[in-house]
Amino acid sequence: MPFPVKKERLYSQREIQKRVKELALSISKDYKKEELILIGVLKGAFVFMSDLARNLSIPVKLDFVRLASYGSQSQSQGKIRLTKSIELPIRDKHILVVEDIVDSGLTLKFLQEFLMKENPRSVRICALIDKSERREVPITVDYCGFSISKGFIVGYGLDFDEQYRHLPGLYHLQF
Ligand code: IMP
Ligand code: MG
Repeated sequence: MPFPVKKERLYSQREIQKRVKELALSISKDYKKEELILIGVLKGAFVFMSDLARNLSIPVKLDFVRLASYGSQSQSQGKIRLTKSIELPIRDKHILVVEDIVDSGLTLKFLQEFLMKENPRSVRICALIDKSERREVPITVDYCGFSISKGFIVGYGLDFDEQYRHLPGLYHLQF
């Protein structure tokens, strides 16, 4: 992929905060009186996960996984492996996977299959962005921040070649 020349803002920090609060409200309602574990997918979900967790009105436990896909930095290539696993026991627990962006869906499919082996009570998905155009496997995004059809997005945790993660807004990179 060539180096990007320009970035165009898609959502401001304020717009993101508003949406994150709405998601946190729905999650808090749905899991009221339940024990919930959030599992964040590193590194991309670290900003979203911290804002989401702080807006919940229910007690939660937090854990993280890290997945690597062989191939280029902007597209997963289908061969995925876990480079950091969960540390909390999840058997009989409700799990909410927190991901930055769903693209082909291969990463989340792999993670769902991995988590199911531990016999959790339920596994749902919360993604900041659902990007539909390149979807290869069906994935149900139970809580979705923003839906877009295509484009390469950075900021608010999302990177291009490890850059831009620290930006408070979401940007569309132009190549
Ligand atoms: P998938 O396995 O194709 O669904 O890819 C998911 C992963 O690819 C995400 O967790 C991101 O790390 C990366 N990715 C896909 N699209 C974008 C994007 O637009 N910006 C930044 N990272 C992306
Ligand atoms: Mg990711």
